[in-house]
Amino acid sequence: MLQLSFDVFSHSDQSAPLSVAVLCHGLKGTTSPMFQRLDQDTGGALSRAVRVRDFQGKEGQTLCLGAPSDSLAQVQIIGCAPEDGADSKSEALVMEEAGGRAFRALEKSGYASEQGIIVVPDCLASYAAEVALGARLTSYRFTKYQSEPSKPVKTQRLSLVLSTEEAAEAALSRWTALQAVADGVFLTRDLVTEPSNVLYPESFKNRIEALKELGLDVEVLDRAQMEKLGFGALLGVAQGSEFAPYTVILRHNGAPSAEDAPLAFIGKGVTFDSGGISIKPAAGMDEMKGDMGGAATVVGLLSALARRKAEVNAIGVVGLVENMPSGTAQRPGDIVKSHSGQTIEVLNTDAEGRLVLADLLSYTAQTYKPALMVNLATLTGAIVVALGAEHAGLFSNDDSLAVALVQAGSETGEKLWRMPMGEAYNRAIDSDVADMKNIGGRPGSSILAAEFLKRFVGKTRWAHLDIAGTAWLDKESALAGKGATGFGVQLLDRFVQDHEAQN
Ligand code: BES
Ligand code: MN
Ligand code: ZN
Repeated sequence: MLQLSFDVFSHSDQSAPLSVAVLCHGLKGTTSPMFQRLDQDTGGALSRAVRVRDFQGKEGQTLCLGAPSDSLAQVQIIGCAPEDGADSKSEALVMEEAGGRAFRALEKSGYASEQGIIVVPDCLASYAAEVALGARLTSYRFTKYQSEPSKPVKTQRLSLVLSTEEAAEAALSRWTALQAVADGVFLTRDLVTEPSNVLYPESFKNRIEALKELGLDVEVLDRAQMEKLGFGALLGVAQGSEFAPYTVILRHNGAPSAEDAPLAFIGKGVTFDSGGISIKPAAGMDEMKGDMGGAATVVGLLSALARRKAEVNAIGVVGLVENMPSGTAQRPGDIVKSHSGQTIEVLNTDAEGRLVLADLLSYTAQTYKPALMVNLATLTGAIVVALGAEHAGLFSNDDSLAVALVQAGSETGEKLWRMPMGEAYNRAIDSDVADMKNIGGRPGSSILAAEFLKRFVGKTRWAHLDIAGTAWLDKESALAGKGATGFGVQLLDRFVQDHEAQN
């Protein structure tokens, strides 16, 4: 076997029987020199299995051979030729998902060993880094609170094997950038999974400050500073909690000129959303520990941009608050004054995400004059009803920005669906006693939330991603286990890449 390889991860360097996954693009894939070599090493076991099982090398097909030779714990043949008529996916995404399937096949077969390799034949070598990314993303586990991990990773070291030095070098240099993205996704998943007694505004802020070591600038606004700036909407949400609120601004300066207007990414960071005085029902309330998913994605993204030294100026702005009912909590009917100067009648304290974002959006637009703003938020239950887990909702005041985001989403598999906006929706949040109210009835309520945000962005190019249905999944998906997905990090990293290419 050719050993021009690089590690996707390595927690040990013990030598152990080898687990091998070989990618196979259609039946053609069975003629590649690397496939043939493995076939010889196993006395023809691979070609026999292909014949007996009528294996076609299609995406989703997998052949498992247990202990086919003395030195091999297993060989998994992973089909990766897209099925005709399947969802049209970019080749890069097909290969990323194939990497994920390869890793899971090695882990789940019952023949898993400490040393795993994924063999990438010549015809697929240009996507080797994507294969590595897919494998890496599916290897994520959150075990810090388990005395005995319930789903341990058996493979301690996973490498990719390519047939030529040239291919290995090219893949390795691209992997360096994609590994930064994987690290960002892992950070986002960690933050979303942490319970609210561990991750509250101050501890979240501390974790962000630790990212200074990546070269990010981090600035913190505390309660007193936010009061001075007039963040009445965000502070109203925070006032029922024992935990002090923070706004944190992360900055990555990678563009040739420091003067270049930054891309701004803004996240809802409600570390727990009880609903406040408009309290939520008990069933499922635990899921609201993930109501800081938008902020977690912004932080994961900025960490990825810093790690891969993206040639762009970017800022991340996150509002960290807890929404609790208490004697000091804000009441339904309260009127607050936002940073923009506009007043808001808070008719439902559970529509708190938009209140947090309102101050962040107008502050970011005014202070940083960004080229564009993208905010992310687990904002509405209604977007889950509308789009499920397949797409996040996209709302925008700018067609070309919306198109670029949809494109980046389909390329990375983090899909967006653009939702409508318009004046008639906007009128639904006019208030009789203030400039606006924070709810406007159930019909189209995800759109009303977006219209609310739009009142704080001014003329800045802006998009809002409602990730309530995609940040956390109840079942395994192509590249994530059950739980936090890290949705948005890959998508926005791709979006930023396109922006780098333009400069
Ligand atoms: N954080 C929730 C939205 C949410 C719901 C996220 C389900 C993830 C899963 C948000 O703060 C909220 O409570 N929204 C309300 C708004 C309503 C009061 C207008 C909702 O969607 O019910
Ligand atoms: Mn809420
Ligand atoms: Zn919320």
